[in-house]
Order: sequence, then C-alpha cells, then structure tokens
Amino acid sequence: MPIHSTHHSWVLETAHTAYSFGLNSQGLLAHCYWGPVLPRAEDYPPAPDLPGWPFNSQGQVVPEEFPAPAGLKYIEPCLKITYADGTRDTVLDFESDQRIGEDELVIHLHDRSYPLRVRLHYRLHPQLDIIERRVEIENAGDQPATLERVFSAQWHLPRFGAYRLSHLSGRWLDEFHLQRHPLKSGLTVLESRRLTTSHHASPWFAVDRGSADEEQGEVWFGALAWSGNWKISAEVTDFYSTRVSIGLNDWDFAWKLNPGEVFTTPSSHAGYTQNGFGDASRRLHDLIRDQILPHGHTPHKILYNSWEATTFNVDVPSQARLAELAAGMGIELFVMDDGWFHGRHSDNAGLGDWWPDEEKFPDGLTPLIEQVNRLGMDFGLWVEPEMVNPDSDLYRAHPDWVIHFPTRERTESRNQLILNLGRPDVQDYLIETLGRLLAQNNIAFIKWDMNRNVSEPGWPDAPGDAREIWVRYVRGVYRVWGELRRRHPQVVWQSCSGGGGRVDLGVLALADQAWTSDNTEATARLNIQAGFSQVFPANVMEAWVTDAGRGRISLDFRFHVAMCGSLGVGGDLLAWDADERESAARWIALYKDIRETIQFGDQYRLGNPQEEPFTAVQYVSKDRSEAVLFVFRTHIPEPIFLPPVRLRGLDPLRLYKVEGLSGARTGLAWMNTGVQVMLSDFESSVMRIRAV
Ligand code: GLA
Repeated sequence: MPIHSTHHSWVLETAHTAYSFGLNSQGLLAHCYWGPVLPRAEDYPPAPDLPGWPFNSQGQVVPEEFPAPAGLKYIEPCLKITYADGTRDTVLDFESDQRIGEDELVIHLHDRSYPLRVRLHYRLHPQLDIIERRVEIENAGDQPATLERVFSAQWHLPRFGAYRLSHLSGRWLDEFHLQRHPLKSGLTVLESRRLTTSHHASPWFAVDRGSADEEQGEVWFGALAWSGNWKISAEVTDFYSTRVSIGLNDWDFAWKLNPGEVFTTPSSHAGYTQNGFGDASRRLHDLIRDQILPHGHTPHKILYNSWEATTFNVDVPSQARLAELAAGMGIELFVMDDGWFHGRHSDNAGLGDWWPDEEKFPDGLTPLIEQVNRLGMDFGLWVEPEMVNPDSDLYRAHPDWVIHFPTRERTESRNQLILNLGRPDVQDYLIETLGRLLAQNNIAFIKWDMNRNVSEPGWPDAPGDAREIWVRYVRGVYRVWGELRRRHPQVVWQSCSGGGGRVDLGVLALADQAWTSDNTEATARLNIQAGFSQVFPANVMEAWVTDAGRGRISLDFRFHVAMCGSLGVGGDLLAWDADERESAARWIALYKDIRETIQFGDQYRLGNPQEEPFTAVQYVSKDRSEAVLFVFRTHIPEPIFLPPVRLRGLDPLRLYKVEGLSGARTGLAWMNTGVQVMLSDFESSVMRIRAV
C-alpha cells in the first residue's frame, strides 16, 4: 500500500523510499522521516514532540510540513497572508485527511480564527520514487485576503546532519554550471526575478551529506514545475534542522484572494536515493519522460536550423538551397528561424506581426514548405510570441499591451518589449494569430523563443493586485501554448529563451524539447550539457552541430557532442565541402540507429567536464541490451593518455561486445576493468556496446 495512515500519522511509500509526517501532541503537522523504505509500519518514527526553547515556540524547533508564521516562530515559512482586518499571521490547525485513488493524499488545514483553508496535496509516483507536492489556498470567507507568499513545499532533511547543496548557475551563452557548497547556519537563497526561469539559476536542488558522488551516497533532490519567478530557500536552523523550501518567488509578489477563490501553486517534485547524483538525475529523467512531457517516448527527428547560415536573410531560394543539402545528409526536419515574418529584416522590427513578410515570401510560406516536404522533410518555424518590437503593426495598434509603468520609460532589450500575457485579450490575439499560421501552413515544428527579461513590471489596469503579474503572465503563457497544442496536435514544440533561459518542469508539460544554449561551441557545450543533464533527459536536450570552433574542433568531435542529446545541425551547409557533408551523413545515419538508446535510455555521467579536460557519457537502453559510449578529450598536455573508462548500468552477468574491441566480456568485467580509449587532444569517440 503506497499510502498508509494510523492515528494522525501518514507514511507515503514508493518502490524504494518512504516519507512520513504526523500530528504531534501540540497539533503541529510535523515531518518525521524521508529515506529508504522501512520493513514495518511501526518502524517509522512518531511525530517529533521536541519542547520549545526560551525565546522560541515549538514551531521553531519542530520541522513542520508547511509552516506559517505564528507565535514565537521565525523560521522560513511557506505561507504569508494578510487578512482583510490587517492580521498578518496564520495559525493552521489540522482538519482532516482525504485519499484520492491509490497515490494521492490531501491534508486539510484551516486557520484557527479565519475562514481560510489550506490543502496540502501529496501525489506519489511509486515506481519513480518521486513525491509531488502542491498546495491549494481557499478563501472561504466573505472578505478578500492578500497572499504574499505561497511555497509549494518545504522538504526536510534528517535533523542534525551536515549537508551540501548542489544547484545550477550561469548566464546567457554559459548556462547550467553545477555548483556545490556546504549549507551553513542560516539561509541560502536561489531565485529568479526575471519573469522567466532564467539562464542564471534553475529551480532544482540536490542535497547530500557531503560525500555522495555519481554512484553512491544519499541524495535528496527536487525541482519546481514553474516557468516564472521562483525561489529556493535552504535553511539550516539554530536547532540543527535543514530544510529546503521551494515555490513561487515571493519577491514583489502579492495575490488578492477574493471570497470563494482558490489559489493553486505549481508542483514541486522531489525524491531520495542512496545511489548518488547519477541516480538522482536518472529518476528526474524518467519522471520528465514518463509523467511530464506530452510525448516523452516519441523519438525526436534530426533537424536542420538555418539561423546561423542565413540569420535574418531568409527567402525561398536561400532556404530551398539549404534544405536540399540538409535532405542530402539525411536530415528529417527543416526549421526556418527568425526573419520570415512581416517587416523582419533585423532585430529592429516585426515581432508581433506573425504573418509571412510580403517581400521575402510573396506567395506565403507554402511554396517553401512544399519544396521541403518534397525533399522528404517536415517543416518547422521560429516564433517569439511574447514579444513585440515598437516598430510593428501590433505595437502601433496596442501600445498598452506591453508590460510597463506609465510614468517610466519602457526599457528595450534587443529592441523589444514584452507583451503582458497576463491579459486575456493578449492571450486571445496570440491564440488566434499563431493558430491561423498553424492552420494555414503545414508546420510540424515550432521553436518558441523568448529573448529578453523583464523591466518595469507594471500592469496599469490589473484586475487584482498589480503584483499578480508574475503569476498571471506565466499562466497566460501556459494557456496560449496549451491551447495551440490542443488545436494543432501535429506540432512538436521547442522551448527556447536565448538558449536555455526557460527550461523547467513546467514548460516541459508544453514543450517537447528545449534549446539548450545559444553557445554551440562543442567544448563549451560539454560543460553546459553535463549541467543540463543533472535535471533533464537527453531527448529534451536539443544540440546542434555548427561552425563554432570549426578550425580548431573537428567535425567528428562536434557531431559526437551534439549526438549526446537530440541531434540537430545548424552550420552553414553552403560552406561545408563534400567531405564534410559525407561525414555528416555518416554520423546522422549512425545517430538514427542509436537515438532511442540516447533519448530514452539511462544516462551515466562518467566524467566531469566542468572539472577535467576529458569526459565520457554513456547511455544504456532500459532493457540493458544496448549501450552507447561517448568519450571526449579536450586538452591534456601530451603524451598522457586517458584512464580506462569504467562502464555503468550493464547487466553484470550478460556478455557484451564493445565496438572496435575484440571479444565479449561480462557486464561486470566492463564495469570493473573499463574500456581503454586512446585519444589525442580534441579527439573523441563513439562506441556501441551490445549484449551478445
Ligand atoms: C535567439 C535564439 C537563437 C535564434 C535567435 C533568432 O537568440 O536562441 O537560436 O533563434 O534568437 O533571433
């Protein structure tokens, strides 16, 4: 039974883990346990009943599941509300529990003195060892209340531990750097205030005891399914309790909760493993593929994107020439990037006017699409729906549709402003305009871009509190995207935000894949991809072979790096010679053979390119009959050679052959003796491993 309860204590069990909490003698809903599943129900500890401490109430000492500020309690709360009469604390009492099916539990709480209901939802993904939490806040009274913070969850670590936090940081062209540092007394805050997930940090955490590695050690990890302002607040209290709160960012946030209204938070997913960071990542990868992505098990086609070849100078002849070359190499999907729509000749103008530019495409997109289809490829297109250039018909008609403060100058970034997608009229305009584009053209793929961050976050006629914009905007993006998806189910969607500026478990319910980074230089990509893989699976990771680093980095190396994800090509094919196109065709043919193992297999990081000048990545099919190994060497002073690469994830007793090496050996042998790969600087290799 995955969920069992006795006398106001609840145990949530997944295949290998358990999570429990209960009411203590003071009625606090206290966290009890999160770790390996225990043999008997009686093995789980009771709700902690620690006494308070002078200057502190029990709530400061006991790890509450969903603490709100009340009494002598000063720890990081999950909730902050101001009631209509000005009262600013919240005293939550347990009301009841409710089971929804086998895998979901709801704990009903209410404020002791106000008609405010709080419902804590716990949903189990038993086979994935993941627990999903979200919260509903209902105003059951007749006066409005103002929400100033509502986190999705507070995740507690076993008390008295010394922990280390792993998270991701970066910037445009340099996303997803893995950071690890000890958690010390006090708060560590990670967040986005940029309206979107951001290149700078990711709503993901992993916590270990300081000695876990890729293969072993306890790791508690989690993520937030949200594509706007988010916050992670890791706290080590003065009473040696470590907890990670995660949810919507409360910075500049307020929500007027009207009578009868329910506010629902995004979900936070979290898990526990004893098998290190690699296993933590694989659990998230499976979660994303099995539960979050709309079609997580449909292989992605190999695409060509013309951006780096033609930038804004697109027209039928230029694109048709590239399409022919792409088709000749075995590419399956041709994507025309920026520059195709009304008035778009540079990044100065056009955003918002989503119909084909009359000069570049006098007969619309159909002639090009038909040509691409005749070459045997699907056709895809770039759009940036949330943006508008002041030089556009849309802005001239609706200057009030952008996010702005009336008294402030509107700060432009890349010459563009942000449409306020919190507004239903803006949402409807986009659904209609983009819907028409998709209905009138045979478009199989959309790259949805977002190329700036917010400024002057105002909404002059906001329906509630103007600070609701942070949440209403993201919900608006989800509505537009969801509606377009529903109406045009044939389209595969990519989330891009100047590269990896919007990749999270929220957008991945709408997008089928993400553009990892605008940086396509292969050695930089090794680092970016390693960080990306902490959270996201390879099928989500769109990776192109481009001309970045061409003189220095071989085409083979560039292909191998891009083949570690969902392969694409983005170089200027007109500048590639026949040999290059032939090599490309060979790698593309190989990728078609191995893509299911890469996109849907278990990924093992066998090195850390962020720390060492060589690395390796291995993908193992779920049935363990097939694996693919990529090895990369960047620069190590010669003549040192690489250490043997110990394989992972194979069936210990089955026999496997490694391509290029003679003789079959057991999985156990390959995993313990390794594969010696001889590479010089800036060389790489790909090897198939097959059970015999
Ligand atoms: C962003 C994207 C690029 C490209 C350009 C087009 O920078 O990340 O891949 O689409 O916009 O303007």
